[in-house]
Amino acid sequence: MHVLIAGGHGQIALFLTDLLHERGDQDRPLIRNIDHANDVQWAGGAPVVVDLEATTNEELDLVLTDIDAIVFAAGAGPGSSAERKETVDHQGSTLLVEAAKRVGTKRYVIVSSTGADPDHEGDELFDAYLRAKGRADRDLAGSGLDFTIIRPVRLTDAEGSRYVSLGGEVDSGEISRGDVAGIINEVLRSDNTIGKTFLASSGSTPIENAVQAL
Ligand SMILES: NC(=O)c1ccc[n+]([C@@H]2O[C@H](COP(=O)([O-])OP(=O)(O)OC[C@H]3O[C@@H](n4cnc5c(N)ncnc54)[C@H](OP(=O)(O)O)[C@@H]3O)[C@@H](O)[C@H]2O)c1
Repeated sequence: MHVLIAGGHGQIALFLTDLLHERGDQDRPLIRNIDHANDVQWAGGAPVVVDLEATTNEELDLVLTDIDAIVFAAGAGPGSSAERKETVDHQGSTLLVEAAKRVGTKRYVIVSSTGADPDHEGDELFDAYLRAKGRADRDLAGSGLDFTIIRPVRLTDAEGSRYVSLGGEVDSGEISRGDVAGIINEVLRSDNTIGKTFLASSGSTPIENAVQAL
């Protein structure tokens, strides 16, 4: 499988690149800083430099050449402005959704967030974040692509236990970034997850079983 990861130098993305590489998949992480190329190559990816806030349709169409699936794991990150939640977390994803439609890449998996809601109210930065994530999810779900929307609870830095809880309700208030990567890796191979939106936390079910049960 040829997989493009937006946010390719992000923590979830680097765990995912490792997993894809182990399985023999071709992984094309998008980075926006050339200094991050070594880290991504070390994990087994073939990085391409694209800034989602300064790209063009032509550039995105080109980087999607031969890609079977897109994973959106980018984010403006903590400390960023409300404007950047909108330009990265929402519009960055939606630009890729539109590009996927143009070039015919059907599969699209997004790392969303618990609480994501396009109509979420409030003026705090976290409110803007939840609105941006919700708008990205809304655009993807309405796109006609083969989408999966994963909504993790609070993320920790650990590699993970490979035991999770997935669904409309979950067992715990946190999940490791390594386990989120493990879930994405499994979702990419599991057509039963197409068209599904679900929460993800740590739990007591092996990732493979939890994904198959969705
Ligand atoms: N923190 C939580 O508890 C939590 C909970 C649920 C969901 N999430 C979501 O999980 C996702 C991934 O989390 P993570 O911890 O792996 O993220 P991360 O380590 O912060 O990585 C995000 C990546 O997005 C990239 N990025 C930012 N602006 C960009 C742009 N304009 N163009 C291209 N790439 C850009 C960053 O690049 P640079 O390295 O160049 O900045 C970074 O590599 C995020 O969408 C986040 O919102 C977080």
